[in-house]
Amino acid sequence: MVYGTGAPKTTFDGSTPYAEYGHIETLLSLQTPRTQAPAEFSFIVGTQVMELLFALIRHEWEDARTRLDADDLRGALQALRRSTGAQDVLIKSWDLLGTLTPAEFASFRDSFGEASGFQSYGYRHLEFLLGNKRSGLVCPHAAMPAVVADLDKQLEQPSLDETARAFIRRRGHEDWLSVYRGQDDGLVELGETLLAVAERFLRWKQLHLTAVWRVMGDKPGSGGSSGARWLEKTVHERAFSELWEVRNQL
Ligand code: HEM
Repeated sequence: MVYGTGAPKTTFDGSTPYAEYGHIETLLSLQTPRTQAPAEFSFIVGTQVMELLFALIRHEWEDARTRLDADDLRGALQALRRSTGAQDVLIKSWDLLGTLTPAEFASFRDSFGEASGFQSYGYRHLEFLLGNKRSGLVCPHAAMPAVVADLDKQLEQPSLDETARAFIRRRGHEDWLSVYRGQDDGLVELGETLLAVAERFLRWKQLHLTAVWRVMGDKPGSGGSSGARWLEKTVHERAFSELWEVRNQL
């Protein structure tokens, strides 16, 4: 590879290497609003940005799980730190929908029919990875065999929580309290990083509920649930419960 020293290169035989590498043409062909409503484009982009981040976070958490299984604490911490960076962007991406008014939402809502984020299998992978294995939630994807197989595999594999607890046991600690009372800074760092992951996940859910309250109040959801009231039931759930519990003892 020869790097130039002056102005960038402006002639290429085919499409640009940038477009090829990032599949930019394909990417930019995927935003297809169904109405003329001005706010629908930001809704689609917001949804797609979040789906991409779900996929990225899944990738990092699976990497962290593999590395913990291999007793590679440093590698696991690096993957988890990359994930908290992605989670920060995920949280921030609510700003894309932060100005949506009830009237704007209503202007395109009918166009997506029964579509709902509840049907996001990317999100379901994250819940399963965190240990919230509601197996019945694979059902919406029954007509997509590859998606079902992938989710079933995720259900069978140990969650990140189970993996981390097995890892600290191999390091001679029966639970997280023993880790926090011990001298191994690396293990405490693992606990705090997992807590940072859980905290960010919770914050995303809280902002989602706030957005629902703001744009549609207590009306039923497009996915068939009671809407905000259904979301309220799980919005307080905290992943890695033992790490939160330990706070009572320290
Ligand atoms: C302001 C826009 C939004 C509204 C009003 C909204 C509304 C809702 C409602 C009412 C539900 C409950 C299920 C149902 O539809 O009946 C739900 C679930 C869900 N939504 Fe949204 N949503 C919005 C934006 C998003 C976005 C951008 C995403 C990210 C892709 C998303 C992801 C989810 C997920 C993952 C669930 C399932 C949560 C769970 O299983 O606990 N939502 N949404």
